[in-house]
Amino acid sequence: VPPPHRVQNRQVQDEALAGKVQGLIEGTTEFFNTPDTDPDLNQNRAWGRAILAKMQDSTLGKDLVSSHTINSSSELDEAIAMGVDAAADWQALGSAQRAEILHRAGQLFEERRATMLEVLGSECGKTIDQGDVEVSEAIDFAHYYAQRGRDLDNVDGATFVPSKLTVVTPPWNFPMAIPAGSTLSALAAGSAVIIKPASQAARIGAVMVKALWDAGVPKDVLQLVFVGERDLGTQLVSDPRVDRLILTGGYETAQLFRSFRKDLPLLAETSGKNAIIVTPHADLDLAAKDVVQSAFGHAGQKCSASSLVVLVGSVAESRRFNSQLIDAVKSLKVGYPWNPESQMGPLIGEPGEKLARGLTTLGAGERWELKPQQLDDSGKLYSPGVRYGVKRGSEYHLTEYFGPILGVMTAETLEEAVAMVNEIDYGLTSGLHSLDQDELAYWMENIQAGNIYVNRGITGAIVQRQPFGGWKKSAIGAGTKAGGPNYLVGMGSWTDAPVTE
Ligand code: SER
Repeated sequence: VPPPHRVQNRQVQDEALAGKVQGLIEGTTEFFNTPDTDPDLNQNRAWGRAILAKMQDSTLGKDLVSSHTINSSSELDEAIAMGVDAAADWQALGSAQRAEILHRAGQLFEERRATMLEVLGSECGKTIDQGDVEVSEAIDFAHYYAQRGRDLDNVDGATFVPSKLTVVTPPWNFPMAIPAGSTLSALAAGSAVIIKPASQAARIGAVMVKALWDAGVPKDVLQLVFVGERDLGTQLVSDPRVDRLILTGGYETAQLFRSFRKDLPLLAETSGKNAIIVTPHADLDLAAKDVVQSAFGHAGQKCSASSLVVLVGSVAESRRFNSQLIDAVKSLKVGYPWNPESQMGPLIGEPGEKLARGLTTLGAGERWELKPQQLDDSGKLYSPGVRYGVKRGSEYHLTEYFGPILGVMTAETLEEAVAMVNEIDYGLTSGLHSLDQDELAYWMENIQAGNIYVNRGITGAIVQRQPFGGWKKSAIGAGTKAGGPNYLVGMGSWTDAPVTE
């Protein structure tokens, strides 16, 4: 299947899309992936510059964050009660009516793309290109789940009963796409939702929820909640009236939530420590490019990021591969996203203890080919780091750092490389660069990861064609994948369970 096209011209595209989205609402058009903005076109660059001009001082969404901050336990209790009450009417509305509202939300996300990019840049440090793909993914989730929601009606002999109240606690690193996916799937299935965006990404969460309200989702069906104190967050995720909790965050956070409530119906996408294997049969130029993009997009702050590359056999000594890799990383322009030259933005905040260690400390036998440098006083801007000589079983091999560091490992054979990757407790994404069919077959048979990619970067899963979700310690819950056909089934239960694929 060919990848989604990049837009030739944002304005022309918007007009063309309006007709296609009408088809989605009427049920006459099959789901399609929304195109990203092509940055190589002059018109789109002018469009981008207008966004950058507003980015640094943007306060969009701030009012909503203040007005939706809850400071007392009784207020939170009322919000939960209101969500439970609102569920019946939302369910009774029917999937077709809900779909119409959710398609409209997808339309509004598109209409507000520039606004979303402004907030993603100012609040979360996302460069325009990183923000742009994220908005496209959110739009895809809206249309995809709206359509799939209707499928829940069409199962012989079983009735789908949605959860009444779903609580969504999204991360700050994909603060639009991931909450959009979780929220839209629950809404499409007929559940009411309380969403508590991450505090580092509060404004984008609020702006996204506002678009859903403007599309017609009632405010009691979708409630936006920020909590003034940590205890209130605990109260929200422990309340027995919550019958589905969707978390995207660290593995430790998922365990913490579980400790609050043992019977917690948790659907969680958690940590990753992901690798790309490059064999001597790879297109080495393509491999170098994909490794750099997967490692340093959004400064490596993606659960899907590649923080390891495993060089097999002669690739370890290949001047062509290694010098291209290092030159490409060295050439990345690091800066705040409102600077048009920036290719890699800042960290969301000063590094915590673990990332600080990853940015400064080497394990036995390791050396920095590029040592991360702190570039200003903010504590958030770091140049990308590349360490060679990472040993099997070392701390760097097995730990998720969530920042702009790439570790290079070597293996004699593909079998050894696969064993090294599988030794990691997590299993979210994994990549192979090879043009050899036998290698590909071996790797596909043996690699342990939820999302596997061949001759492509390992971030940026595309809704419907690459449903996203982990394996091993990267996923907890139903094991279904966001952006795939079975995800909605996790948003409720069947009175007489049908067989799903
Ligand atoms: N879906 C994102 C990606 O594929 C990660 O959450 O990069």
